[in-house]
Amino acid sequence: MNFRQLDPQALGRTDAYKLFVTCIVPRPIGWISTLSTTGVSNAAPFSFFNAVCSDPLMVMIAVGKRRGELKDTLLNIRDTGEFVTNIATADTAAQMVQSSADYGREVSEFSAVGLTPLPSVQVKPPRIAESPIQIECRLEQIIPLGNNSTDLIIGRCVLLHINETVLAEDGLVDAARLRPMARLGREEYSVVEQVLHYPRPHL
Ligand SMILES: Cc1cc2nc3c(=O)[nH]c(=O)nc-3n(C[C@H](O)[C@H](O)[C@H](O)COP(=O)(O)O)c2cc1C
Repeated sequence: MNFRQLDPQALGRTDAYKLFVTCIVPRPIGWISTLSTTGVSNAAPFSFFNAVCSDPLMVMIAVGKRRGELKDTLLNIRDTGEFVTNIATADTAAQMVQSSADYGREVSEFSAVGLTPLPSVQVKPPRIAESPIQIECRLEQIIPLGNNSTDLIIGRCVLLHINETVLAEDGLVDAARLRPMARLGREEYSVVEQVLHYPRPHL
């Protein structure tokens, strides 16, 4: 059997990252909306993102640095303690990717990319109307990770907004209707369109 062994230390930071993100796939994309203390709304996608706790519901986002500087999303969440997790879907793929551009701190991705802000109920940052699932979150913890490279944000989900178009008859979300985007490596993405059903065994 021919397995290639790759030591991330020997690869170096950039090549290790490039390889890693082609291994850990598919990654869901949290399209995070925040508000600065001066009232500028912000939206950016994060694929180092997932559900991490069920009681209470919590999500995590790992935010890296940009040329050694903290990203707007991290600054806003740190300063206000609030954010909205919007789920990125195939219908808004182009806008989601566009919102990852390096806009200045004073620029709102909502206007730059043409997103519709919807007021939230329990937090101040707006929801992204174009996303069929929007989850209002309150900051729980920020955990610094690695060589001063990343901050892991953990947020508690306080209110879920789900568009009825993606709900199934059982009241849960139907992934085939949602068509969530997932990030692969390189500049590649996937869309969940095929749903397989495997009931869990009961011993
Ligand atoms: C699909 C996608 C996923 C991304 N995932 C992450 C991520 O997990 N962590 C991160 O720090 N940046 C990630 N980025 C890059 C950020 O979106 C980008 O740095 C953005 O400009 C940050 O915006 P902000 O400064 O407004 O917070 C991702 C970009 C794309 C297109």
